[in-house]
Amino acid sequence: MTQAGTRPSGYRAGYGPGYGPAARRLRLGVNIDHVATIRNARGGGHPDPVRAARLAAAAGADGITAHLREDRRHMTDRDIERLVAEIELPLNLEMAATEEMLAIALRHRPHAACIVPEKRSEVTTEGGLDAHGGRELLEPYVSRLGEAGIRVSLFVDPEPHQLEAAVALRAPVVELHTGAYCEAWLENPEGAAVEDELRRLREAAAAAESLGLECHAGHGLTFDSVPPVAQLPNVVELNIGHFLIGEAIFGGLDSTIRRMRAVMDKARAEAGGALGA
Ligand code: PXP
Repeated sequence: MTQAGTRPSGYRAGYGPGYGPAARRLRLGVNIDHVATIRNARGGGHPDPVRAARLAAAAGADGITAHLREDRRHMTDRDIERLVAEIELPLNLEMAATEEMLAIALRHRPHAACIVPEKRSEVTTEGGLDAHGGRELLEPYVSRLGEAGIRVSLFVDPEPHQLEAAVALRAPVVELHTGAYCEAWLENPEGAAVEDELRRLREAAAAAESLGLECHAGHGLTFDSVPPVAQLPNVVELNIGHFLIGEAIFGGLDSTIRRMRAVMDKARAEAGGALGA
């Protein structure tokens, strides 16, 4: 059976199974793309992304995220097939709005699909999707994925007009791009730009919730930069990849994910948004 057919009841409420609306536990989606990047450097099957996904689950991840790119630079079609078939956690498939990716998503029916902009020349997803300017193009993708029972999210910059476009498109979820915030953090963690970017994220997350959108965030987050984002009360899920896989070289994947989970939970608890608060 597909993931869409086996999803635990209550998961769609946005707070995870078993949690009421007041219990805003922050979910962690672990992006395992770069396990495949390392595997692909030599070909063959090692390291295996499915093994990494199982380990992430044991270490406290709430979901697995994988981006099937048009050029297949990391995840392959077979990886997606195996992740859907072999892991228990919900899979969030990141995909460009193309007919090819839509067909793959409809075939595998992951729990969620996050529509991202994609350029062949970029090293990573550089900015958010222009949901506002691309409404007509996106509409059939959002509706066909939604009709198949796949929870659609749009990866957007923290801008009010992008959130309004998500509502108009009837996407239930937005993921706010945290790249500008993380870059400002790397430049100077105490700089005014960090505060500015954080304010944009805070306002966008609050606006998303008041518009009825479930709000996720991600891109570029590290142990150091994650706490202020984890403290945004309207954000219910973070998706983190590159740092976790890179840091795992030094600390191991299990302890790296556990530590990220702990850092997120501590920040959330300090902000008064812990479980049961
Ligand atoms: N969210 C989305 C939509 C992404 O495209 C990515 C990068 O693939 C991430 C989160 C994770 O970003 P990072 O790998 O920098 O943690």
